[in-house]
Amino acid sequence: MDFENRIITSDFTPEDNDIENSLRPKTLDDYIGQDKIKENLKIYIEAARGRGEALDHVLLYGPPGLGKTTLAGIIANEMGVNIRVTSGPAIEKQGDLAALLTNLQEGDVLFIDEIHRLNRQVEEVLYPAMEDGALDIIIGKGPSARSIRLDLPHFTLIGATTRSGQLSAPLRDRFGVIFRLEMYSNEQLATIVTRSAGILEIPIDEKGALEIASRSRGTPRIANRLLKRSRDFAQVKYDGVISLEAAEDALSKMEIDGLGLDNIDRVLLTAMIKNFNGGPVGLETIAASIGEEAVTIEDVYEPYLMQIGFLSRTPRGRCATALAYKHLGFEQDGQQTLI
Ligand code: ADE
Repeated sequence: MDFENRIITSDFTPEDNDIENSLRPKTLDDYIGQDKIKENLKIYIEAARGRGEALDHVLLYGPPGLGKTTLAGIIANEMGVNIRVTSGPAIEKQGDLAALLTNLQEGDVLFIDEIHRLNRQVEEVLYPAMEDGALDIIIGKGPSARSIRLDLPHFTLIGATTRSGQLSAPLRDRFGVIFRLEMYSNEQLATIVTRSAGILEIPIDEKGALEIASRSRGTPRIANRLLKRSRDFAQVKYDGVISLEAAEDALSKMEIDGLGLDNIDRVLLTAMIKNFNGGPVGLETIAASIGEEAVTIEDVYEPYLMQIGFLSRTPRGRCATALAYKHLGFEQDGQQTLI
């Protein structure tokens, strides 16, 4: 099974780069969905601008592909400041972070993706920077070592993570604003697909857009990717227009079913039903049985399966629900009926 190249991965792939950048909205008004976040952000941004201050530090969390990076870009744009983009694993040493911080200008945004993967030493440099706008540097070694404090420009740290639970408490506590991004409704995704199709000049009708939306697992990044792939089918087989028929054909050729499940989701659920009576079964056990890493199952596959009510997390392990049995054509006794 090719886990890396699944078309409905919500992970960022190099191929997403060009389209994602051209499709990213630049203002809150162009950003579709996440209404509560937008409403509050507008107030915080207006207030900070009114006072001539940097925005408070913001933590964005939620499953991959929901627009955390996009939102960070919008915040910087609406604040009228620069954004520096980096990620937890890219900042290896304290000095790397010190270099980033000292190069910021007054009010700038520093965006750290996957902030839960920062190492401890680096995190410790971040605390005084976030709290006091100061950088503590140790000079020398051993008994003669001393620390000097440098003032930093005022800045806004925007951290993004798929798992806020993995963030250390001291780091989490230093964010003034914490937002959890929600999965998108099919209607919101259809609006995003239609907007993207407009920018990329892809002809699509309303039903075609809704079909792509409803198989995109609540995730704009997947919707935009399926739009691009469906365009290829439409161009070769359907006069270039993504109609309902063209979208259905394209998506079924990509083995993405009516709810957006792909082979890997089906393998996961089928293993739970056939090998473990539908659960409860431990995450590690499922992971071993399908040859996937537990964290990947937890971060990438499970959020959507839980969202559509196919999988539940219980204290004793994961369970496949009656809805999952029905969708995959299993009776409750685990016998598979023909579908
Ligand atoms: N592209 C990706 N996410 C988006 C969103 N939330 N609104 C508009 N376009 C998007």
